[in-house]
Amino acid sequence: MANKVVVNTDIEKGTINKNIYGHFAEHLGRCIYEGFWVGEDSPIPNTNGIRNDVVAALKNINIPVLRWPGGCFADEYHWKDGIGPRESRKRMVNTHWGGVVENNHFGTHEFMMLCDMLETEPYICGNVGSGTVQEMSEWVEYMTFDGESPMADWRKENGRENPWALKYFGVGNENWGCGGNMRPEYYADLYRRYQTYVRNYGDNKIYKIAGGANVDDYRWTEVLMREAHWLMDGLSLHYYTIPGDFWKGKGAALDPSEQEWFITMKKALHIDELITKHSTIMDKYDPEKRIGMIIDEWGTWFDVEPGTNPGFLYQQNTIRDALVAGVHFHIFHDHNDRVQMANIAQTVNVLQAMILTEGEKMIVTPTYHVFEMFKVHQDATKLDLNITSETYEVNGEQLPAISVSASKDKEGKVNISLCNLNHKEESQITIELRGLKGNMQEVSGRVLTATERNAHNTFENPENVKPTSLDSIEVKGEMLTVTLPQTSVAIISLG
Ligand code: AHR
Repeated sequence: MANKVVVNTDIEKGTINKNIYGHFAEHLGRCIYEGFWVGEDSPIPNTNGIRNDVVAALKNINIPVLRWPGGCFADEYHWKDGIGPRESRKRMVNTHWGGVVENNHFGTHEFMMLCDMLETEPYICGNVGSGTVQEMSEWVEYMTFDGESPMADWRKENGRENPWALKYFGVGNENWGCGGNMRPEYYADLYRRYQTYVRNYGDNKIYKIAGGANVDDYRWTEVLMREAHWLMDGLSLHYYTIPGDFWKGKGAALDPSEQEWFITMKKALHIDELITKHSTIMDKYDPEKRIGMIIDEWGTWFDVEPGTNPGFLYQQNTIRDALVAGVHFHIFHDHNDRVQMANIAQTVNVLQAMILTEGEKMIVTPTYHVFEMFKVHQDATKLDLNITSETYEVNGEQLPAISVSASKDKEGKVNISLCNLNHKEESQITIELRGLKGNMQEVSGRVLTATERNAHNTFENPENVKPTSLDSIEVKGEMLTVTLPQTSVAIISLG
């Protein structure tokens, strides 16, 4: 069987919400501190304490939304500790992540400043596990109330006259686990109560996100939808790609065996089934699909790099991570009627990071390059596709070798992204473009690939994995043929 893709350029399948290219940054390891925040007195070039190099790199990938402050940290975070003069802010122990001292120097004002610099929407996750209703309610008042009120006055005293625009607010995180070990019935009641006091002040309209299920916990989704669907705008889902076992050994980020490579691809593709099944439950209560599925934590999770703090979740990032990112985006596109946001975990120095830092040095990862190559899909119109894929086989198990998605941007330009999951063989693909009205004059492509399964960037060799021109494209009328190298992610642009 040959690889064949039919792109029906005149059959539109809705918009790919740019927010599926969203990010997540937690007070965990070196994500916030060192990754974003170095402080105003740091020798590392910064603007008001935030690293210039990291902001510049992230602006290049158009981050649409950034989730903060956690993660598990969110349900231990008390926002009032993180405002006012920095030298007098309360110090706490980040019990969940490495037991390190959190000095609260990066708080609400600093996060909002970061979002302004990145031109990104803030998505704040509130504390249900160890916080009060009053605390959550006052945080929203502090950030968004315009006029005279105790919290708005306090914000002004702390140097911010105008309220911030805040759209996305999460009511707790993983409340089935680190966010309180609750049963869905109990959390559903708490959700109903807490969200009541997450107010809309003035023109600020909050999109409320309920804490959703872990992986295949379909009962959680069923109970939340049954008990509270009319009170939520979004319901989250968390799924990590872990080649091994979460508790017994997840597998190393570097040097995957053939089998580990294959399992990683298989587990990445599994998110399709999870989205489908959780969506089916959501459809029962919300057939109009008003409520967005918000996949606000996803990505690879490997064992930490040897010699690093186990609580810091620092892992290298290879061409394997790039493939995982590529297939996730394609699956999110396929479910664009329900998936309205996704936030990769996490932006800098933690889990499947876009950026790694070491002192003043910074590198971008293969995953970063996928975000950069795929940014053309943000808010574009998804196009109908028909894919026939060869199989990719390891030890008698099979997966489709290729993954493809296509969209049309506001100027009518068609972009086709492709992944070759096969770690040792190239894939030849015929692409038939139907319904295209004569704009095939210009065809160009870029590819991210490597011959080694563990290819990655280091501080010594920061450009080992980076996109290059895809020169194998041939055009004949409405047909394109392209050869995708082994282990590759590509983008082809027409018109
Ligand atoms: O992203 C790391 C952690 O994974 C988050 O804090 C938590 O929500 C999840 O279990």
